[in-house]
Amino acid sequence: MHTTNLLTFLFFLGVSSGKNILIFNPIFGFSHVKFISLMADIIADHGHNVTLFQPFHNAMKNTEGLVKNKNVEIINYYPDHYEELEKLETETFPGFWDSHLMNNPVLQAFMMPRSLVLQFERTAAQLLKDQKTLDELRSKKFDVVISETFEITGFCKNSKYFYPNSLNNFSDIAHLLELPCIPIMSAVRFTTFNELFGQPSSLGYLPAIGSNMAPEAGLFDRINDVFRNFLMLSCMERMSDLQQTFIENAIGRPVPHWRDLIKQSPIYITNSNPYLDFAVPTTATIVHVGGITMDLKQMKHVGKLPEEYVPILNERESTVLISFGSVIRSFQMPDNFKAGLIKMFQSLPDVTFIWKYEKDDVELKNKLPKNVHLKKWVPQPALLADKRVKVFVTHGGLGSTMEVAYSGKPALMIPIFGDQPWNAVMLARHGGAIAYDKFDLQDGEKLTRTMKAMITNPKYQEKAQELLEILSNQPIDPKLNLMKHLEFAMQFPNLRSQIPAINQVGIIAHYYLDAIAFIAIFAVLSVYGTYIIICKLPIRLVSKKVKSE
Ligand SMILES: *[C@@H]1O[C@H](CO)[C@@H](O)[C@H](O)[C@H]1NC(C)=O
Ligand SMILES: *[C@@H]1O[C@H](CO)[C@@H](O)[C@H](O)[C@H]1NC(C)=O
Repeated sequence: MHTTNLLTFLFFLGVSSGKNILIFNPIFGFSHVKFISLMADIIADHGHNVTLFQPFHNAMKNTEGLVKNKNVEIINYYPDHYEELEKLETETFPGFWDSHLMNNPVLQAFMMPRSLVLQFERTAAQLLKDQKTLDELRSKKFDVVISETFEITGFCKNSKYFYPNSLNNFSDIAHLLELPCIPIMSAVRFTTFNELFGQPSSLGYLPAIGSNMAPEAGLFDRINDVFRNFLMLSCMERMSDLQQTFIENAIGRPVPHWRDLIKQSPIYITNSNPYLDFAVPTTATIVHVGGITMDLKQMKHVGKLPEEYVPILNERESTVLISFGSVIRSFQMPDNFKAGLIKMFQSLPDVTFIWKYEKDDVELKNKLPKNVHLKKWVPQPALLADKRVKVFVTHGGLGSTMEVAYSGKPALMIPIFGDQPWNAVMLARHGGAIAYDKFDLQDGEKLTRTMKAMITNPKYQEKAQELLEILSNQPIDPKLNLMKHLEFAMQFPNLRSQIPAINQVGIIAHYYLDAIAFIAIFAVLSVYGTYIIICKLPIRLVSKKVKSE
């Protein structure tokens, strides 16, 4: 009731100062698209005029229906090569399962940016040159642009729509400020951008693959942290640099650097939730709205389970749902991983398993015991809401991580790539989930032991429930947090006082390494000097005396 009143209040507040907002929603990954579409909904629900501009980088089919608010104007931008995109099979990256090449951190840091960013180039280049569309957008006289920053062209494009002259005048950054561009990140964080908004290095605050975290971390863990952190930052910077290059190629002249453009905003909105995320130092400029996609009321009344699941869930006392999401496909899982899973199915005959498996696979079906059901698609939220489902086995995409956290269910997190390893440890920290190495999928016995513990030990259920309670009672509702900060940012587009200047001084001055070195050297020299004075000098004096005598 309380929240409803608050929302109503905000609604009327919103109407009186309603703004005309353009939201950039590049279509490339479903969870990103979903996050931004729901954000558009929330902003429109609060009385603003919202236009959702969606350039298609791939032929994603299920974008319709994500936006519920009828007042949101959706402009789909289909590039000329859209038919080609439609013919392409959605990329499924089978190599991420177990290819040592693709799982090598150094190669990944250098290859991943190109393979991701190249997906954006054609549509972005066409749009950058499409004067008609740009003029049409310009004529709508938006007050503010909100833009996803995984694909930074949205940002640079905006500067082109609204400041056609500024591109010829790079010193004129102030001109860019006339219309605030607010960056959002549909992942928990994008370290490079977080640092632009004043967040100090996350070394030691975030786990690095292969490192223990404080207080267990030793010297080698810290060396590994530095190495991994370097790779991660170069990967992120390369992504933005590559985009900057193709943007400049498309419009045929330089544009302001992405760092300078993104820094112009008074806030940076991320999909992190402070009560789910790692404890990381931050600034008031970085707004954490993770959880806006979750509606607790709605989650308690999810749609009825499809008929076919009723007998399946009644088969045994415990049911386990297995899904590796939509980008990575179960049917492309290497055979030794599948063998590990089959071993677990056979060792736990009292448990029913529902496995999202995208193909009719007769060969596999013949190997499976009776307690396994393969489904090409699963009604995930409805299944997670059902008491009979005891554990969720997931790849730990952010969408699924949020869904399982807000369902109060234990989860076996088996991350495959990208931000998934972080999401896995992020959830496991709370005690209701276990982060499990994908290469240990081939170890059927370990998998069985882990699964058995999760089903039989009530600790996991209790901890998962506790996290749900915490998220349900967090002091500031994520939707309210989003709207308050957004409206504040539109009111004070030039506010920069919450970004510490220490961030601009380089690593040595930032962490006082010069001062520490100076003091250390000074201390060593003084100890040495004192030693000379106390021990050596009197002896010399004495020996001189002795000689002279
Ligand atoms: C929002 O849209 C309505 C209806 O089209 C219009 O009357 C109003 O002026 C718009 N508000 C802004 C801030 O553009
Ligand atoms: C660039 O911006 C400055 C400052 O606003 C202005 O004085 C100058 O005339 C601009 N130059 C061009 C070529 O537009």
